[in-house]
Amino acid sequence: MSSGSPFSSHIVGVGGYLPERILSNDELSTMVETSDEWIRERTGIRQRHIIAKDQHTSDLATEAAKQALDDAGLTIDDIDAIIVATTTPDLIFPSTASIVQYKLGGKDFPAWDIQAVCSGFVYGLAQVDGMIRGGMFERILLIGAESMSRILDWQDRLTCVLFGDGAGAVVLEARASDAPNGVIGSVLHCDGSYRHLLMAQHSYSGSVPGEDPTDFQLDSAGVAAIEMKGNEVFRVAVTKLGEVVGEALERYGVEQSEIDWLVPHQANIRILKATAKKLKMNQNQMVVTVNHHANTSAASVPLALNHIYREGKLKQGQLLLLEAFASGFAWGANLVRWSKG
Ligand code: COA
Repeated sequence: MSSGSPFSSHIVGVGGYLPERILSNDELSTMVETSDEWIRERTGIRQRHIIAKDQHTSDLATEAAKQALDDAGLTIDDIDAIIVATTTPDLIFPSTASIVQYKLGGKDFPAWDIQAVCSGFVYGLAQVDGMIRGGMFERILLIGAESMSRILDWQDRLTCVLFGDGAGAVVLEARASDAPNGVIGSVLHCDGSYRHLLMAQHSYSGSVPGEDPTDFQLDSAGVAAIEMKGNEVFRVAVTKLGEVVGEALERYGVEQSEIDWLVPHQANIRILKATAKKLKMNQNQMVVTVNHHANTSAASVPLALNHIYREGKLKQGQLLLLEAFASGFAWGANLVRWSKG
């Protein structure tokens, strides 16, 4: 499908950051009634990274952004806009993107957040691609960053075992549309009738896990914590992701067999495998990082991308299918032909 635009968008820098503190399944099982075996079998998760008490989502985002800028051989002065996809902003306002801009030493160019929970990066990539094709910006820093540990009830084993903290970032650049490769296109969906199945009510707990496991107690009344009907989320996620990858292939005239890499949202290994099966993809074409850092929401797709990129596995001209499913429910996919060396 041709956009008729003189521009196309290309990923020219990739970065990621995970906070130092690792919380293993075994340690978690001293805090709630669970076990390493249960968590690994049902989710594939072995551990998660937890933000430090004195860190904020913007700090994780800034570290990932610095790495992406370095990777692109650029500085903040080369950037025209920053978008941060997050569901755990530092503050209700101003935007986390404006704080990241400040921390990176940027000034005057636009910066804003988007909220599509775990699909935030996939939504963000679609938005950036549209703006670059429209000729509005030349280079955009797109970041997915989360401190999910701050909106968890650490006494609820149904949810606290599933999430972690981290950030991933990419720099996207405009090139002439006859340049080979780059972002091909995106498919996005949302169905708000499912909104009650996965949500966090307003206000933050303010609690941060420390070295002592008992520190994970929630420390204020009326806290916000993730509430989820896991079975129903699982069922709809598998169906909708299967549909959206098929829709993306059809819309952009791509055959299943042409996909080199599935770069999925990292929520549960069983959901990932179901999507790979639908695409008839070999398991080793599917990027898996959920074992290392659990579900990092909007950070998960760029962290997965950063993972295979750093392993040197991405080759120019390869076709990537990024996909995510999120609370809302909001879901989507992006097709990217890798154009970076
Ligand atoms: N440790 C040990 N046991 C647990 C547990 C835990 N952390 N959480 C639940 N259980 C128990 C349940 O109480 C239940 O016990 P019972 O059979 O005695 O009633 C049993 O394990 C099975 O629970 P169930 O909820 O049916 O397990 P499941 O196979 O559906 O797996 C999830 C649960 C949450 C892992 C799974 O539903 C899931 O991944 N859902 C999608 C969540 C998600 O991805 N959310 C984010 C989307 S972006």
